[in-house]
Order: sequence, then C-alpha cells, then structure tokens
Amino acid sequence: MAELPSDLRNLESRLEGCSVLRRVVCFSEIESTSEHLKALARAGEEEGMVVIADHQTAGHGRHGRSWYSPPGVNLYLSVLLRPSIEPSKAPLLSLFAAVCVAESVRAVCGIRAGIKWPNDILLRGKKCSGILVDMEGGSRGVDWVVVGIGLNVNGRDWPEEIRPTATSLAEQSGRRFDRGVVGSTLIGRMDSEYVKALGDGFASVREKWLAYDMLSGERIRLTERGTVTEGVVIGYDDLGAIILGDEDGSRRKVFSGEAERVARV
Ligand code: BTN
Repeated sequence: MAELPSDLRNLESRLEGCSVLRRVVCFSEIESTSEHLKALARAGEEEGMVVIADHQTAGHGRHGRSWYSPPGVNLYLSVLLRPSIEPSKAPLLSLFAAVCVAESVRAVCGIRAGIKWPNDILLRGKKCSGILVDMEGGSRGVDWVVVGIGLNVNGRDWPEEIRPTATSLAEQSGRRFDRGVVGSTLIGRMDSEYVKALGDGFASVREKWLAYDMLSGERIRLTERGTVTEGVVIGYDDLGAIILGDEDGSRRKVFSGEAERVARV
C-alpha cells in the first residue's frame, strides 16, 4: 500500500474545534470513501466519522457515473451523519453539503462558486465539485446519511470526456493548494453548519443555498432516469425540489435529476 502523502497526514489534529466531525481516517487508496463509510454506518459506526482518500479506484457519482479520482491532486471524502430529522427533510442535506463546499471554496481561494441544482459546484461555468448523498432510514426517521464529496483541488489533466466541463481550484486561481488546509476548512465548515442546521431544523440551509443558485429564471432541460423535460425554473420548494413553469402557466415540482441550461434563442 502506498504511503499517505504528507498534505493528508494529521488531519485530525486540525479539527480540534469541531464538535461532531472529529474522527478522520485517511487512506492512500480505496475503492470509494462512500462505500467504505456506508459499510461502517451499517455496522453501527457513530456519527461524525470522516473517511478521506488520496486516490479512489472506483469513485462514483450521481446517476451511476464514475468520479475521476487520480492520486496526489484532489480531495475525496465522505462524512457520516445521523441527524434526528424527518426523512422528508433528507434532501436538505444535499443542499447543506453544497453550501458548505461553496463557502469553503470561497474561503480558501477567494472565488465565488455557483451551485447548479441540486449540488454541483461550478467555478466560471465548470464543475469543480460533486456531491453524492446516500442514506438509510425508515418511517421513524433517518438512520444514517453518508455525504460523499469530490473536490478538484489541484487537478489539471482531465480525461477527454470531462475536459470541456471539469475544473479545479488551481486551474481557476493559478495557485496550488494544500489538501490538508482545504479538507480541514471543508470539514470545519460542515461541522459548524451541521450544528446550526440541527438547531433550526435545516430551515436556514435553503436560504443560504439560494444565494448560490445559478438556475432561477433560466430555461433548463432536466433528465431523470432517461426522461427529459424542459421548463423555466420558477423557484424551489421548502425541501429543495425544483419548481418548473411551462408556457401555458402550469407548474410542476421535480425532486431529482440532472439540469442543464437551455440556450435562449
Ligand atoms: C457527482 O457529481 O456525481 C457526485 C460525485 C461524488 C464523488 C465523491 S468522491 C468521494 C465520495 N466517494 C465516492 O465514490 N463518491 C463520492
């Protein structure tokens, strides 16, 4: 097994101010931080565990896609939460994670990111971070949530298929970043926002998320499990579902999918 790069060592010591996210396990190589943490969650691991890897061999994203996870350059991390919220509010965790990433990006490199519903983080129109939320629960509540975040920090050499759409903090700012600093900033932000969100039932998360929204008023094409719909984004409901309007004045809510702006003619 390869040695852990120096910038990912001793991350736990940077998290002393955190109240929930205090335990970090770092791998030099793993299939997927989220799959590993989901297995721990099912085995009863306590809330607050963070799994980070230098390299993922089977990193994956939303809609069954893979997540480009080469060693030495980017951050791949997953966080285990056990929030006492109604399962209906679980989509707000996805917005919560997106806000934390956008705020951390601003803090470390000074660039304001945008969020493309529900949780793609874009810098100047290109994606620098993606978030995958997995959860298990039942009628009585949420049992566990694993928030998996891929954040392109110093990556620059993209495979051809994502070259037109991917970017990194380094590419956009012209600087290199210490992944330990970026990772601990992000984990610290998630910790403090999570404590606040538990206090107000995640109500403030939606308000914060709206400040980064890139799609309100835009005509979009939404793909969900092979079905494509189009409409104008009127807004978002209390749980973060997108509200699409049609030319005939009708409105409909969509809870998940992949949104793309449709160019105005
Ligand atoms: C997406 O935009 O489709 C979500 C990408 C999520 C990638 C992260 S990297 C860390 C964690 N482990 C995974 O296998 N996936 C998530």
